[in-house]
Amino acid sequence: MERLQKVIAASGYTSRRKAEELILAGKVRVNGKTIYELGTKVNESDDIFVDGKLINKQIKEYYLLNKPRNVITSTTDDKNRETVVDLIKTTKRIYPVGRLDYDTTGALLLTNDGELTNILTHPSNNVDKVYIAKIKGLIGKDQLKTLERGVLIDNVKTSRSKARIMKYDKKTDSSIVELIIHEGRNHQVKRMFEAIGYEVLKLKRERYAFLDLTGLKSGEYRKLNPKEVKKLYSLK
Ligand code: URA
Repeated sequence: MERLQKVIAASGYTSRRKAEELILAGKVRVNGKTIYELGTKVNESDDIFVDGKLINKQIKEYYLLNKPRNVITSTTDDKNRETVVDLIKTTKRIYPVGRLDYDTTGALLLTNDGELTNILTHPSNNVDKVYIAKIKGLIGKDQLKTLERGVLIDNVKTSRSKARIMKYDKKTDSSIVELIIHEGRNHQVKRMFEAIGYEVLKLKRERYAFLDLTGLKSGEYRKLNPKEVKKLYSLK
């Protein structure tokens, strides 16, 4: 991370002092947001516009990963565990959009496009996140309705979701439930089930927006095509 005025100056656009003046005058936007703070830190994948002109054009990359279990959703790990970024061959500084738990598998987007990340993670945007949860016990229609209407997590109600039971296995006394949510709160699915008295034994994200896992085995990934990137942008 570097100070914004330093990055502007390093791009050759203007001097550092002039860059500071431009920031204070509200002429600088980072990932679509006007920045007035001189100390703001940015990294190489942030889009920096000065007077409406992009000064640090980066080649953007977009990957869809089928995240395996026991991989951490982060760019680095202080315990030296494998991260999702380690699984992808690139020289770009990509990072995950949102987060899947260490033991959760499935669809995860990675990119170096800060603007798209902001769009996708903004709470007002209705990006579908489709999860398949294996839970302990038999779950009834009423409980699914409760989940759909919203439950309290940290005293804040979850927004409307969709839930349906796909299977009940008598032998193991476990149910498979599809849950479609639009938020991305910490451990949201596990905590939603916990709120109605169920334990999640296994969790997989089957789809993120319109991106599903077709053709991707666990640990495999692919680049998004330009059409898919455009479609993600249109979710704004
Ligand atoms: N909800 C969870 O509880 N865990 C995840 O990894 C994703 C959603």
